[in-house]
Amino acid sequence: MAFTVQDYYFRKAKKQNYLARAIYKLEEIQKRFKVLKAGDRVLDLGAAPGSWIQLAGGIVGGAGLVVGIDLKPIQHAFPKYVVTLQGDIFDHDFVESALRDYLPFNVVLSDMAPATSGIKAADSARSALLFERALEVALWGLAPGGTFLAKLFQGPEFHQLLAEVKKQFGKTRVVRPEATRKQSREIYILAMNRKS
Ligand SMILES: C[S@@+](CC[C@H](N)C(=O)[O-])C[C@H]1O[C@@H](n2cnc3c(N)ncnc32)[C@H](O)[C@@H]1O
Repeated sequence: MAFTVQDYYFRKAKKQNYLARAIYKLEEIQKRFKVLKAGDRVLDLGAAPGSWIQLAGGIVGGAGLVVGIDLKPIQHAFPKYVVTLQGDIFDHDFVESALRDYLPFNVVLSDMAPATSGIKAADSARSALLFERALEVALWGLAPGGTFLAKLFQGPEFHQLLAEVKKQFGKTRVVRPEATRKQSREIYILAMNRKS
């Protein structure tokens, strides 16, 4: 029996005790671009169920910090340098009060995705709003020189959002990891060296 790509990564994640197949996307980006380093302070937006936290936590270690936020509760038990918070990224009061004590971050990650409707234009518009908000949070919470990595569904908003990111960061890349499902229109924008 031939396995599809998602079967392969899903099974691999289960076997390796990772919380989601999404871990392999960040793992590939990490291998290529060394986004995370030991001791980094990392904010992970849209973090549930927690596989990116598993990878990031392992890299930053006890000298670092990972704060994960999601609409859904994150139930996994992580080491004490990981903080998980439940809330909506569009709730400005929640975000600012919850994160104030952890600022600044070296890396802001966003794997946020909207609940999809199957209507391409609506889904890409919702994904663009999540991306835009993640960028806003990153520009508020990132230290100069920091890194921003965020998911976006390709759509008419893509070029404008990429242009906005380019204004704020020294170097940008558009990445589509191998572990991305074939039919998915998601890509990641990686932006390094936040301008001060
Ligand atoms: C693809 S999943 C993230 C998987 C995660 N990176 C992992 O490795 O386990 C996308 C997440 O974005 C979250 N999300 C969507 N809209 C959000 C919002 N407005 N605020 C916070 N989280 C949101 C969803 O609840 C969902 O858990």
